[in-house]
Amino acid sequence: MADKKARLTVDGLDESIELPVYSGTLGPDVIDVRPLTGKGLFTYDPGFVSTAACDSSITFIDGGKGVLLHGGYPIDELAEKSDYMEVCYLLLNGELPTAEQKDLFVNTVKNHTMLHEQLNHFYNGFRRDAHPMAIMCGVVGALSSFYHDSLDINNEHHREVCAYRLIAKMPTIAAMCFKYSCGQPFMYPRNDLSYAGNFLHMMFGTPCEEYQVNPVLEKAMDRIFVLHADHEQNASTSTVRLAGSSGANPFACIASGIAALWGPAHGGANEAVLNMLEEIGDESRIDEFVAKAKDPNDPFRLMGFGHRVYRNFDPRARVMKKSCDEVLAELGLENDPLLKIAKRLEQIAIEDEYFAERKLYPNVDFYSGIILKAIGIPTNMFTVIFALSRTIGWISHWSEFHSSPNKIGRPRQLYTGPTQRKYPG
Ligand code: SDX
Repeated sequence: MADKKARLTVDGLDESIELPVYSGTLGPDVIDVRPLTGKGLFTYDPGFVSTAACDSSITFIDGGKGVLLHGGYPIDELAEKSDYMEVCYLLLNGELPTAEQKDLFVNTVKNHTMLHEQLNHFYNGFRRDAHPMAIMCGVVGALSSFYHDSLDINNEHHREVCAYRLIAKMPTIAAMCFKYSCGQPFMYPRNDLSYAGNFLHMMFGTPCEEYQVNPVLEKAMDRIFVLHADHEQNASTSTVRLAGSSGANPFACIASGIAALWGPAHGGANEAVLNMLEEIGDESRIDEFVAKAKDPNDPFRLMGFGHRVYRNFDPRARVMKKSCDEVLAELGLENDPLLKIAKRLEQIAIEDEYFAERKLYPNVDFYSGIILKAIGIPTNMFTVIFALSRTIGWISHWSEFHSSPNKIGRPRQLYTGPTQRKYPG
């Protein structure tokens, strides 16, 4: 119910248009522009910079203050005190689990970690040097061909089963992408390990010997999963919601999210950050690259900097930077040359007025790649890790969309093409 009104006057219209204004629990009020269609008007907002596409109770971001809340809990507290399985439960259910609820959730996820054996053959169709994001996109999209028993999107139980299957299988699929690329045998999941520990086991274990999970790397991996779990209506999550609005099955919707995430302006930035740091190669070349980033005629951008919403530090970047220092110190890599370049680059950029004016700060992708590299994960797997982590966010938003009355998403346009004309002859 609208508690406020906006009034719009438009040249050429006899009377002003009254539009309802709604308030959420946090964040800006929204103007309901739906009545404009009846007046022969559309809103115009390329890139959806000022558009609230839905209402949601899952995640809140205050870009000006650098605040990120999941179910009301600040991301830095969740990263410090919670773990990925608990955050998955929170994003899906809106509340932290009791000890019993968490045990049941974790054990249910564990019972879905294996893939259908037929899917192993699917990998064989790819070149060994295929980008793992291409493989993940294909394999996740193909999952719907194995689960005809739970594809009724209007059935809450089916939606829940799909969520468990996707949360559970993404680490297995991701690790298999890596194993396939290096010609090592796929490793079956081990249900005696934690979610993060099992992922490391499937990535780096071999059938030849017992894999020992390093607790420092296990904690760092779990924290990276937590920090990437959800982020409101970002490009890939909005893609999943739009795909879901057509009634597409959840596996196809998640595959569309993976595809959207792959871009270097979005989740592909973590891989691009590492490639950029390696291209810079030495602190002496930082100024050259900062100048390129500032040059309006040069398409180069400082990867890992800037954000559509944050006009302050990305709170995840703060936690990631702290975790980066801890992990590298634990591994005796505190003098890692890439970390030194990254820290120097951050300092120079933040002191530079070009970045300060545009409020360009390090985002979640700036430090994550350095930790992933220290863990031993190859650069081309970084966005795969992001997709694995973000699956819970995607499926939570997909479930939220389907849990209330909805309609297919169908934006309009400002048409600038030719007016109607006769076909010649
Ligand atoms: C993620 O939306 C989310 O929530 C995404 C995400 C999530 O968790 O889902 O947080 C994950 O995608 C993080 C962002 C990762 N991408 C990168 O690190 C790539 C580098 N960043 C940029 O491409 C850019 O900052 C974006 C895409 C992130 C945001 O772009 P916007 O909001 O569309 O801003 P813009 O392109 O309009 O830039 C505003 C100005 C421009 O300069 P002017 O035209 O005003 O002179 O800032 C400049 C841009 O050229 N600018 C940069 C820059 N980012 C913006 N200049 C140099 N280097 C950069 N990184």
